[in-house]
Amino acid sequence: MVKVSPSILSADFCRLGTEVDDIRNAGADYVHVDVMDGIFVPNISIGLPVIESLRKATDMFLDVHLMIDRPHRYAERFCKAGADLITIHVEADQPQDIFSCIETVKAQGKKIGISVKPQTPASVLLPYLEQLDLVLVMTVEPGFGGQKFMYDMLPKIEELRQLINQHAPACELEVDGGVYANTARLCKQAGADVLVAGSAVFKVPDREEAIRMIRDA
Ligand code: DX5
Ligand code: ZN
Repeated sequence: MVKVSPSILSADFCRLGTEVDDIRNAGADYVHVDVMDGIFVPNISIGLPVIESLRKATDMFLDVHLMIDRPHRYAERFCKAGADLITIHVEADQPQDIFSCIETVKAQGKKIGISVKPQTPASVLLPYLEQLDLVLVMTVEPGFGGQKFMYDMLPKIEELRQLINQHAPACELEVDGGVYANTARLCKQAGADVLVAGSAVFKVPDREEAIRMIRDA
């Protein structure tokens, strides 16, 4: 069954603890936390102190998506702040720093993922794939919630499904951006294991129904 990871980017930050309890009760599998630095993406969101607070407030799996430049500089601190999974962007660091970042996160006993932006081909992940716990395919340009799903990313999801099956069968395949019930169905058919959904979950009153519609799509 596909996992659902609601993105708190669309939550009410004044009531973050309640929002996270709400999605827990509504059946969410992970909590997706979007960290943006205003450099790698043209937006600024939240960082280490919020992850520390979330860690104290919930036992849910914290799926931390780092949209920051040269993430190897901060990976260890995000692990220590309480992330369960750190996903970095392949476009954001040099290969040698990506390899060292993978080592750092694993040494902290945490999971490591790598994400690809829409214009980045699947093949760039090949050197890292066997060491990864998760691959994240962006189906919008990273930086903002509420954008339209890019249907032309579906072949890349299929391609990564094949590559993961061949090289790293335990690795999860996550999709992020514009996921609603209709697009969730296409992502599942293309081979996704985890679906991130911000607006679809947090911008509706009935989160349980929203999560169910994505999972059962
Ligand atoms: C975008 C973020 C996403 C975003 C998804 O850069 O990585 O996680 O919150 O939001 P929706 O589901 O609204 O597209
Ligand atoms: Zn994200």
